[in-house]
Amino acid sequence: MRIDIVSIFPGYFESLGLSLLGRASQKGLIDVRVHDLRDAAHDRHRTVDDTPAGGGAGMVMKPEPWGEMLDGILASDDADPDPVIIFPSPAGEVFDQRMARELAEERHLVFGCGRYEGIDHRVFDEYSARGRVRLVSIGDYVLNGGEVATIAMIEAIGRLVPGVVGNPASLVEESHEEDGLLEYPSYTKPAQWRGHAVPPVLLSGNHAAVDAWRREQRIERTREVRPELLPPELRGASRGRHAAD
Ligand code: ADE
Repeated sequence: MRIDIVSIFPGYFESLGLSLLGRASQKGLIDVRVHDLRDAAHDRHRTVDDTPAGGGAGMVMKPEPWGEMLDGILASDDADPDPVIIFPSPAGEVFDQRMARELAEERHLVFGCGRYEGIDHRVFDEYSARGRVRLVSIGDYVLNGGEVATIAMIEAIGRLVPGVVGNPASLVEESHEEDGLLEYPSYTKPAQWRGHAVPPVLLSGNHAAVDAWRREQRIERTREVRPELLPPELRGASRGRHAAD
């Protein structure tokens, strides 16, 4: 998968060279290219922003550098004919595991990181008229720009690209995969730590009992912190605590 990122802070993306995604890049499974938007701003100060039309606080990113930069990426030799352009924005559709799975199937993603009060909306209109463009939020809070949101999305998407995670089974049991329940809590050695014990069932060697315990934990955890994720058949009273209610 090819991933282009446009930002005025290319340094943010050095972290993509680390760990799992770094190894995936070395193996050629993902090809990340970071572009400095200011390379497409040609005045003495390499200006990328201006005051908002209609007035108001803050600055808006000018369309011309975005147009030049995105045209260059889309016209580059090995660009895909039908990439997905993603503009991270708190005003976008909310990113989730389903969207990560969907985007992991693509051959070419382009992330355009806005700063300030955002990018002149005509950039969105221009590229929406020419291909697939999505405004995407990573949650209901406001970041200083799209960089951190882009890193979060690339990490979630990149690990679903075949070959990136060594053992594909480890992708299946995770939170938000398969049945939508949250993950069960994990433990390792020692069996006792500061008076806290590993739940005895995990040391019993009884695989069926371990599986049953883990499933129960996933249901209880989901009921406790994210009840809206519970499938309808599990929405009744929880076992034990509310059984007599
Ligand atoms: N830019 C600023 N806040 C954001 C958010 N919550 N998601 C995506 N991009 C953003």
